[in-house]
Amino acid sequence: MQQFTSVYDLRSLPAALAQAKEVKARPFADRRLGENKTLLMVFFNASLRTRLSTQKAALNLGMNVIVLDINQGAWKLETERGVVMDGDKPEHILEAIPVMGCYCDLIGVRAFAGLHSRDDDYREAILNQFIRYAGKPVFSMEGATRHPLQSFADLITIEEYKRTPAPKVLLTWAPHPNALPQAVANSFSEWILKAGYELVITHPEGYELAPAFVEGATIEYDVEKAYSGVDFVYAKNWSVYAGDQYGKVLHTDRRWTVDRRKMALTRDAFFMHCLPVRRNMIVTDEVIESPASIVIPEAANRVVAAQVVLKSMLW
Ligand code: CP
Repeated sequence: MQQFTSVYDLRSLPAALAQAKEVKARPFADRRLGENKTLLMVFFNASLRTRLSTQKAALNLGMNVIVLDINQGAWKLETERGVVMDGDKPEHILEAIPVMGCYCDLIGVRAFAGLHSRDDDYREAILNQFIRYAGKPVFSMEGATRHPLQSFADLITIEEYKRTPAPKVLLTWAPHPNALPQAVANSFSEWILKAGYELVITHPEGYELAPAFVEGATIEYDVEKAYSGVDFVYAKNWSVYAGDQYGKVLHTDRRWTVDRRKMALTRDAFFMHCLPVRRNMIVTDEVIESPASIVIPEAANRVVAAQVVLKSMLW
């Protein structure tokens, strides 16, 4: 695999899920595969889980790892061509990327949506520049529009916890004080639909996701109907996608917070969230601390997901 930015880069999703089981059972079986290979992880944005889990996955495969935080200790990067560079950015990304490519065998990139221009964000400018100019295989550690390593871990977790062969999954918007990208929600929807599971998405009016990511899902604005009979509740906040309100927070209505009353409408559903999570905004203390909450095993599966992807890129 030369690049991994979405579920469509996998040759086969069922095969990837089968590999995940093998990796989980025998995490050190391929520790010679990464010998003398170097992973460079480039972060334009903060991270806890992605940083640690991807690094752990690489170490399990015997790789060396270099981590670069662009905003801490690196030169500030200009990302647009044609700019007269007389400001505070001394290096252009078009030199920086191929230089980074000289020092490693694989590159992981995290570059969130800026939420200023929908067109800029949805063309994934930074990730695509890495793919074009690095000269090495590139994978997404969360781009502007997708978070595929998270979604892969989410699906691995659903496979582990499902009680029926075809569980019904709910993706619910929940309030947050800040404007967040749509990447996790887009990606989760894409992976669940690709897996062939029934997906219900609920959110306040105005928070509709890009149609390309939700085609095949049921959009349900009635919260009680949305929760009814589902097996998994996946909560996430996102800002507005549609029109000139792109990137805006319309409201932080805590009637959308996942609480015990809503969870009672489900079929004893498990609660999931990618973390970090704002307690008592996204989900109540009571729900996230309940036995139904599987956020920690979900985070643990980030190592498994990353290891399957790295393995495929090393072959
Ligand atoms: N879920 C997730 O990607 O966490 P981090 O932002 O901490 O990496």
